[in-house]
Amino acid sequence: MFETMVEMILDAQHPLSTGLTADSRLIQAYQGTRPAVTPVWFMRQAGRSLPEYRELRVGTRMLDVCLDPELASEISLQPVRRHNVDAGIFFSDIVVPLKLVGVDVSIVAGKGPVLGKAVRSSADVDELTSLDPALLETALAPISAAVALAVSQLGSTPLIGFAGAPFTLAAYLVEGGPSKDHIHARTLMHAEPEAWAKLMAWTADVTGRFLRAQVLAGASAAQLFDSWAGALSLADYAASVAPASAAAIAHVRDLTYSVAESDRNVPIVHFGVGTGELLKEMHNIGADVVGVDYRVPLDEANRRLGGAVPVQGNVDPALLNAPWPVLEAHVRDVLERGRSAPSHVLNLGHGVPPDTDPDVLTRLVSLVHDVSAAE
Ligand code: CP3
Repeated sequence: MFETMVEMILDAQHPLSTGLTADSRLIQAYQGTRPAVTPVWFMRQAGRSLPEYRELRVGTRMLDVCLDPELASEISLQPVRRHNVDAGIFFSDIVVPLKLVGVDVSIVAGKGPVLGKAVRSSADVDELTSLDPALLETALAPISAAVALAVSQLGSTPLIGFAGAPFTLAAYLVEGGPSKDHIHARTLMHAEPEAWAKLMAWTADVTGRFLRAQVLAGASAAQLFDSWAGALSLADYAASVAPASAAAIAHVRDLTYSVAESDRNVPIVHFGVGTGELLKEMHNIGADVVGVDYRVPLDEANRRLGGAVPVQGNVDPALLNAPWPVLEAHVRDVLERGRSAPSHVLNLGHGVPPDTDPDVLTRLVSLVHDVSAAE
């Protein structure tokens, strides 16, 4: 599928095209070359662990903030200023493109995304998919503006764009909100396979457009989050989910830039939680880098991936609140195991917990840089 895809060269002003971010540690590692110092960033680094974020959020609604370019840009920059991380992640949410295409969704503090109406039947799927994804061509303007603003201030630090994978979004759409086992979504997959396929194709289009808009506006890499794919068997994942994830990724897979007269693809990372059994399939959808949660050690993840795939991860977020010597020993172990892969970007095995002491994150960034530089 990818061999026949027509390439599209990024705008000359894009930070990958100008060279501003193309040689950064993050992009080198994502392209499979091990830089002298291991790059580090944290999933959910922009958000509630930072007092400056909580201050800025007083009296505002999450989705309103995501659609305000000044605020979304400012929040994306906060952790970069504070922690000396090697990348920013764009501040937004996986449900933003659903909201922009016309779905009744809100984000409830302490809970997560909540839908006005759960999508439970084939008729519900027909109603949802009558919303035209092409509306996003103009509706995504505040997202493009926020990314451009953040990128203009980040200089040589790359910004990572992201989107939710179709299954994780479908899990919210079908359940109507957060769920532990995603049982209604998994029932629909088998009870109404045609409706399921239609739902997944529509969701892939919506989330793929969200991701593409961020890269075109200046993001230097893209991460697809399939946070809840760990609820699936390998067979269900391969048959009923992976094709839609590949379709979502195809929205950015064609984007290229040139370095020293050779064409490169914008790197794509794919991450899931509890997906140790799915790692190889998750790479096969067309990802360059696989994000690993804290359950599978990186040397074992590298073995499962066949030894040629850059990995990202996988410090256990629970240890951020443990005594420093315990955390330090764990981080050194993660770095050591990460050396088995072609390249490694240090991250957490899932997002930063809201009660994390931000100074611990800053100290962890220095540790990663110092330990990896000394090797
Ligand atoms: O720093 C970053 O990582 C960038 C921002 C970001 C947010 N959401 C901001 C946010 C990213 C990358 C996401 C992705 C996201 N959203 C995922 C995939 C990543 C993952 O954690 O698995 C998922 C599953 C969602 C859905 C979602 N949105 C959840 C589960 C929640 C938390 C609910 C809560 O309050 O506990 C949200 C809301 C949300 N998204 C917040 C933030 C900062 C909290 C909103 C607040 O401050 O009130």
